[in-house]
Amino acid sequence: MNIIDTMKSRFTCRAFTSEPIDNETILSIVEAARWAPSWGNTQPWEIFVANGESTDRLRKAYSERLSNGVPVNPDITRPLPKDWPPALKERSEKLMHDLAEFLGLDRNGRNVMRDLMVRNFLFFDAPAVIFLCMDRSLTPWSLFDLGAVSQSIMLIACEYGLGTAVAVQFASYPDLVRQELGIPENLSVCIGIAIGKIDTTSPQNAFRATRRAVNEVVRIKG
Ligand SMILES: Cc1cc2nc3c(=O)[nH]c(=O)nc-3n(C[C@H](O)[C@H](O)[C@H](O)COP(=O)(O)O)c2cc1C
Repeated sequence: MNIIDTMKSRFTCRAFTSEPIDNETILSIVEAARWAPSWGNTQPWEIFVANGESTDRLRKAYSERLSNGVPVNPDITRPLPKDWPPALKERSEKLMHDLAEFLGLDRNGRNVMRDLMVRNFLFFDAPAVIFLCMDRSLTPWSLFDLGAVSQSIMLIACEYGLGTAVAVQFASYPDLVRQELGIPENLSVCIGIAIGKIDTTSPQNAFRATRRAVNEVVRIKG
């Protein structure tokens, strides 16, 4: 697949099959993704992977916390705006609305959010989750670098015929992730990428989010 086809065919996979994925495949994907650019070549990413039984233990622990109503406690909180600019808020609400309509769910936004949250906390049944971490002292520039490596991981996974889902919700309980994967305290658990075989029978995976028109996004002069 060429890069443009890969860009356009990647989507957030929200249902994985139970087929395991081996550590060697994950290593090969990260081996290529670490060529992503970063501020001053600082390469701030520290990557920890839960695979197989490790993912299952985390899945169970996350779901228990959700059922018991334990408040989430992510390491990265500051970049979340207090009020989203109206146009961005509208797009995010449109996503929830479109998803609900597509899946034939109750249009009440809260129910859609709850359903999505429950499945987020199950890591969409993925066999493995790649957690991206960085030193706590770092700033949004390093998060930019983590974004670059995240997209690289997701595109390379497509090459391997694998689906991915990047989700902040996977980093909702960093203490659990830290404990399971031996992540030191000086690192923030920023985000997770679920990875595995796409469940092509799930309606969740037939949904495609829309994009703004290119001439709305870009202004060229000259
Ligand atoms: C930084 C970031 C955080 C995200 N967090 C979540 C999440 O917690 N749960 C989720 O279901 N999707 C999450 N997503 C996926 C977005 O909803 C998705 O990328 C967007 O709707 C566009 O859809 P697409 O990836 O299928 O093209 C996240 C994406 C990004 C880039």
